Amino acid sequence: MTHISPSILAADFAHLADDVARVERGGADWLHLDVMDGAFVPNISFGAPVIGALRPHSKLFFDVHLMICDPMRYLKDFLKAGADLVTVHAESCDNVAECLKYLHDNGCRAGLAISPDTPAEVVFPYLELCDLVLVMTVYPGFGGQSFMANMMPKVRAIREEIDRRGLAIDLEVDGGVDGKTAAVCAEAGANALVAGSAIFRPADAKAAIDSIKVAAAPFFPA
Ligand code: DX5
Ligand code: ZN
Repeated sequence: MTHISPSILAADFAHLADDVARVERGGADWLHLDVMDGAFVPNISFGAPVIGALRPHSKLFFDVHLMICDPMRYLKDFLKAGADLVTVHAESCDNVAECLKYLHDNGCRAGLAISPDTPAEVVFPYLELCDLVLVMTVYPGFGGQSFMANMMPKVRAIREEIDRRGLAIDLEVDGGVDGKTAAVCAEAGANALVAGSAIFRPADAKAAIDSIKVAAAPFFPA
């Protein structure tokens, strides 16, 4: 099963609830929320209050991607805001296991992300603690960047390890995903696809979501 997770980083922040409703009507099942602190990444986006404000306006699964230093300090806030899944970066802290356990202990799904320069093996010790692994296909910090096809061997290696251990972990890619690159990602083993610009920029969000679904379908039938 493929999950399409539109990233609100590319939405109209002045009409956020309306824009989220547009992708919900268009067939999205997840919503990707990019939190940036201006320290872990060179950009600032939004924090838990915005997610909490959006929560009553949407039934989508809230897929929260934390690009912040020392995420443990703020996990409680994101749980309270209504996150269904919180993903922390392996490069952002030295207490990854503690973060993942905290999320589970508090009834939230737990994800682990790696940036382009981080090798696949970094996530292996934590797989049993993860519900999702996120492989960045751009350097985190900004929407609208070009897809890095050279991340696909990493996606493949993590998919192989997940399957080898018989785990039911979602494998997500994020950055430059559209109707074309989605097929490459799904073929490599990604079953959760984040797309910001490709979904929010066109007037017809449903057509954009459908094109990503169609591209991934041969590899992950519904
Ligand atoms: C980048 C973010 C992505 C970004 C994707 O740091 O994590 O989620 O919004 O945007 P597009 O799909 O435009 O590359
Ligand atoms: Zn993201």
